[in-house]
Amino acid sequence: MKERSKFRKYVKEYRWSNIFAMIRNGRSEPLVCDEDFTGRLVVITGATSGIGYHTARKYASRGANLICINRNPDKSQALQREIEDEFGVRCDYRIADLSSLRDIFRVSNELAQLDMAIDVIIHNAGIYLTKREITDEGLEKVFVVHYLSSFIMNFLLQEKLSSDGKARIIMVGSEAHRFAAWGLRLDDLMWERRRYTGLNSYGSAKMAQLLSMIVFSEKFQGTGVTINTMHPGAVKTETGQENGPVYKWFKRNFLDRSLKSPEISAEALYYLGVSEKLESVSGKFFSLTTEEEPAPPALDREAALELWKTTIRLAGLER
Ligand SMILES: NC(=O)c1ccc[n+]([C@@H]2O[C@H](COP(=O)([O-])OP(=O)(O)OC[C@H]3O[C@@H](n4cnc5c(N)ncnc54)[C@H](OP(=O)(O)O)[C@@H]3O)[C@@H](O)[C@H]2O)c1
Repeated sequence: MKERSKFRKYVKEYRWSNIFAMIRNGRSEPLVCDEDFTGRLVVITGATSGIGYHTARKYASRGANLICINRNPDKSQALQREIEDEFGVRCDYRIADLSSLRDIFRVSNELAQLDMAIDVIIHNAGIYLTKREITDEGLEKVFVVHYLSSFIMNFLLQEKLSSDGKARIIMVGSEAHRFAAWGLRLDDLMWERRRYTGLNSYGSAKMAQLLSMIVFSEKFQGTGVTINTMHPGAVKTETGQENGPVYKWFKRNFLDRSLKSPEISAEALYYLGVSEKLESVSGKFFSLTTEEEPAPPALDREAALELWKTTIRLAGLER
C-alpha cells in the first residue's frame, strides 16, 4: 500500500482514548498469579540480564525447569549455577546469537527435536541501537533480534507445539511499536532508503512482531497453543549498552531515574504464562497484565499477511 493511502487509512482509526488508556496502564501494577508451575518447561530468550533474568528467576522460584537461549556462555553458566543452587530446578541453556539466522535456525531445530512438551516460550532478547548495524548476513540487526528471531522460532516450532497442544508463546513487545505510526515500509525493512533512528527501527521491529501475532494466532487456533505480546513496563535494565558514551550517559542520568524494577515485568510474564484466566486468550496485546489496544497499523490483517509473505522469503522459510 502507498504511504499516502496508509496514512489516510490509519489516521481515521486513531483514538485519543487509546492513548489515555496506554498512559493509565503504564502506571498500574501487574496482576499476581499464585499458581505453582512445578515440573513445567519454560523457554526464555535473553535470560542473562534485565527482564529475562528476573523472569527466569520468577519461573524457577515456582518450580519450573528452564531452557535459556543466550548469546554469552559465561553469563549463561553463572545463571545456571545460581538458579539450580537456589531453586533446585533444571536451568539448561543453548548458546545462540539471535542476530544470526544460522544460529536462530539451529536453536529452533534443537527445540523442535525436544521430546518434552514446552509449556511457555518467552521471546525476550532485545537490543536498542542508535546507529544502524548490518549483520554478516546483510540484515538490519534490530529487525533480526526482535522480529525475525521470534518469527523463525515460532514458525519452525509450529508442528511440535501444535502436537504438544498446550504452549503459551509470549513475545516481549513494547509501546514503542507506536513509533511505527503509519505501519511498516515493506519495501525498506532494512532501513536502506530512509534515515535510520533508534526509536524508529526499534518501533518497526516491535510493530512487525505484533503483525506476525495476527497470523500465528490464526494458525494456532484450535491447537491449544496461544500467542500474545506484552509491554513489560518502563523498567531499568542493561538495554542500550551497545551504544556510544553519550547515549549511555543520558540513559544513566536521565532515563534510568524514572524507571521501575524489572521485577514487575517478571511478575507480569509469570501471570501471562501461568494464570488460568488466560488459558485460551490469544492474539492480544497487554501492558503488563492489562489487555490494551495496540496502534491501528498493528491490527491491519492485510498488512500482516503481506509481511508474512515477505518474511517467509527473507528468512528462507519457503517449503
Ligand atoms: N527495559 C524496558 O523498559 C523495556 C521496555 C519495553 C520493552 N522492552 C523489551 O524487553 C526485552 C528485554 O530487554 P531488557 O530491557 O531486559 O534489556 P537487557 O537488560 O539489555 O536484556 C536483553 C537480553 O537480550 C540478550 N540479547 C541481546 N542481543 C542478543 C542476541 N543477539 N542474541 C541473543 N541474546 C541477545 C541480552 O544478552 P546479554 O546479557 O549477553 O547482553 C540480554 O540477556 C527486549 O525485547 C526489549 O525490547 C524493554
